[in-house]
Amino acid sequence: MTDAIRRHDPLVKGFASDNYAGVHPEILQALALANEGHQTAYGDDVYTEALQEIFRGHFGPEAVAWPMFNGTGANVVALRAMTAHWEAVVCADSAHIHTDEGGAPERSAGLKLLPVATPDGKLTPDLIDRQAWGFGDEHRAQPKVVSITQTTELGTLYTPAEIKAVCDHAHELGMVVHLDGSRATNAAAALDVPLRAFTTDVGVDVLSFGGTKAGLMFGEAVVVLNPDAVRGLRYLRKSSMQLASKMRFVSVQFEALLAGDLWLRNARNANAMAQRLAVAVRGIDGVEVPRPVQANAVFAILPRDVTERLQKRFRFYTWNEATGEVRWMTAFDTTEADVDAFAAALAEEMDSSA
Ligand SMILES: Cc1ncc(COP(=O)(O)O)c(C=O)c1O
Repeated sequence: MTDAIRRHDPLVKGFASDNYAGVHPEILQALALANEGHQTAYGDDVYTEALQEIFRGHFGPEAVAWPMFNGTGANVVALRAMTAHWEAVVCADSAHIHTDEGGAPERSAGLKLLPVATPDGKLTPDLIDRQAWGFGDEHRAQPKVVSITQTTELGTLYTPAEIKAVCDHAHELGMVVHLDGSRATNAAAALDVPLRAFTTDVGVDVLSFGGTKAGLMFGEAVVVLNPDAVRGLRYLRKSSMQLASKMRFVSVQFEALLAGDLWLRNARNANAMAQRLAVAVRGIDGVEVPRPVQANAVFAILPRDVTERLQKRFRFYTWNEATGEVRWMTAFDTTEADVDAFAAALAEEMDSSA
């Protein structure tokens, strides 16, 4: 019996982020299953060993998975392993590595990021060329990696063909491609394709594969698809403070997520709830949904007073103070009733604003 007490209301859910959600019960079961008894620390355990086959099943026979604690760490380790000291990373200016990692790529890895403005969070060969130049010029950090995000920070989705075009272009330039797949499962569910269709099969070299937003307590994995694109990952994981001593607990969570269809069930639910939310809020007078809803994010523009009142009832973030744009994320555990209650609250607040 634990002495801990529940300090929150489990019925209260918000739309701030998919990582506000708890842990999927099947993941908690897997954690309990791996508990008790001893296993070798630092990844030399039976769960981490078994995980390799599971990742190969999804990403092909060359794939090697490196479990890590979190997404920022996975991105930093991946990008460190893909670059030499004089090389740089081309990314969208909205990329998480550029906007939301506290400068970790620059501060902890000394990486030079070359951001590009995009209309929708997506890079294209033309947009890559805005920064991929100056090869051989000693005055310019040498562009080496193109980093894209799937799904993007703006809730948009690359098709496999669009990612192939990015990869082909990067490879022609002698560059390699990193995919921040913090929400890769949402992308696969939305596209209705296997995970490898927009990664391995189209030329992505290294992937940061998200577990936390997909239903894990914590855990992400760097998945190397092209071994020639990385150097020293084993050592960089440790020196980047991402080597978990009790790694079996990260690995067993990924096993529970990926061995069956839990990843797909979770992602499909989150995506379906975003669609339901989009339909509901588009029907409310005065609410604008300025971006396509392609996975589990909905963006909307609201009057400021409505946002302030609604935020007292439900958690969510203002995306852009200047335009009044807000972001709503759905998660694996968002229910139809959660969405309907939120949409009804929004309608009420809009009414009292009019
Ligand atoms: C696109 C993207 N990449 C990476 C991350 C991982 O971040 P964290 O370090 O919080 O696990 C996030 C989390 O919000 C994200 O949205």
